[in-house]
Amino acid sequence: MTATDFHRLAQYPGSGCEKYDRRAEIFGREDVLPLWVADMDFPAPDFITEALRERLADGAFGYAKPGAGHFRAIADWLCDQHGWHVCPDQIVPVPGVVPAMAMAIRAFTSANARVIIQPPVYFPFFQVVRDQGRVLRENPLVERDGRYEMDFVGLEALAQDAEMLLLCNPHNPGGRAWSIEELEQLALVCARHEVIVVSDEIHMDLTYPGVAHTPFAHAAAHGGLRWMTVSAPGKTFNTAGIGGGFAVVVDPEDRARFDRERRGMHLGEGSVFGLVAMKAAYTQGAEWPGELMAHIAINRDRVISAVADLPIEPMTPEATYLLWLDCRAMGLSDAEADPGDVALQRFFIDEAGLGLSQGIIFGEPGRGFMRINLATPTKLIDQAMQQLRRALGRD
Ligand SMILES: Cc1ncc(COP(=O)(O)O)c(C=O)c1O
Repeated sequence: MTATDFHRLAQYPGSGCEKYDRRAEIFGREDVLPLWVADMDFPAPDFITEALRERLADGAFGYAKPGAGHFRAIADWLCDQHGWHVCPDQIVPVPGVVPAMAMAIRAFTSANARVIIQPPVYFPFFQVVRDQGRVLRENPLVERDGRYEMDFVGLEALAQDAEMLLLCNPHNPGGRAWSIEELEQLALVCARHEVIVVSDEIHMDLTYPGVAHTPFAHAAAHGGLRWMTVSAPGKTFNTAGIGGGFAVVVDPEDRARFDRERRGMHLGEGSVFGLVAMKAAYTQGAEWPGELMAHIAINRDRVISAVADLPIEPMTPEATYLLWLDCRAMGLSDAEADPGDVALQRFFIDEAGLGLSQGIIFGEPGRGFMRINLATPTKLIDQAMQQLRRALGRD
C-alpha cells in the first residue's frame, strides 16, 4: 500500500493550479466546484514526493539527462504492467505527449498532409494538427450499445489520401480501452494505405479493475505498418505539471528521423524534476494504479447511481478517471459557433454550480455531452451530485 490520502485536497484556490485558479476565465465565475482539467485533486503518491524531496535536498538543479537506468525503468514498466517488450534504446525522451505528437507530425508528414483523428477526442488533437499546417480529416466514433466504436468503413475511405492517424488509446473522453481486434483492424487499414499511426497512451495505466490496456504495439506487428507510441507518467501519477514523457519508435530509421526533429527544437533532455518523478514512478509505482483506480471506481459508481433517474446517461468507462455524460435528453442547446447559445454549459455553471468540461470542445460528436473528472475526494463527488440533482429539481 502507498500512503496516499485519497480524501485530502492538494489543490485549492490560490495554489496556482489551473483547476481552481482558471475558474473565472473558463466558467465566468469563481464559485463553481471544478471537476474539469484532467489532473487529480489529491496528492501525488508518497514515493514521488519523497524522490523529489531528496533531489531538492541535494540542491542539484543543473542540466539534466536521462541515464540508462531511466530508459530501463520505462521499459520494465511497459513489460511488467502491459506485457509490452521494448528495448531501452527504442525509447526517446520527450517533453510531453502533445509536443511529441507535434514532432511526429512534422517529422513524418508533408506540408498540407491529411491527418486523421476520431472525434470526440482530446481537444488538442485538433489543434496540434492545424498548428503544424496539416489538414484535419475526421472519422467520428460511432456510439453502439452505450459505448464508442471505430467506424472502419469511414476510416478506409479517409485513409486513401491521408498520411497519419492520431489514436487515443485508451480513449479520452469516452473511456474505451480499445480491444486487440479493434486495434488490429485499425492497423490493417492504416498499413494498406501507408498511414502512419501515432498512438497516445497517456491513460495506459488507468484501467478499471478487471480491464487491461492493450498497447497499440500488440496490433502493429503487421508488415509494412509505420507507427509509434507516446506516453508519460503525468496522468497516472498526477505529475502533469512537472512534465516529461517518452516516445517508443521501434523502427531505427523512423526513430532517427523523429529524434532529429526533437533535437531540432532544442528543448533539452528533460527537467530535473520530470526525470526524477518519472524514474520514481516507474521503479516504485507498481501498486499505485490499482489503488488509485479502486478509489476512482467508487467515484464512478457514485455518479452513475446519482444520475440514474436524471435525463443524463453516463458512458461507463473501461479506463481513465474521466466520465462522459450524455446530456442530450436535457434538451439544452450547446452551440460553439454561437457563444450566446450555450444553455447546457450555463445550466451546469449557473444552476448546478459545477465546472465540468463542455463536450463540444472534443468535436461535433461531443455536442450535448459534458465530461466530469472523477479524480477527487469522494465527498466532492457526492457534493457535485447533490448540486446537480437539486438543480434538476430532485431531492
Ligand atoms: C489523451 C491525452 N493526451 C495527452 C494529454 C496531455 O499530455 P501532455 O501534458 O504530456 O502533453 C492528455 C491530458 O489530459 C490527454 O488526455
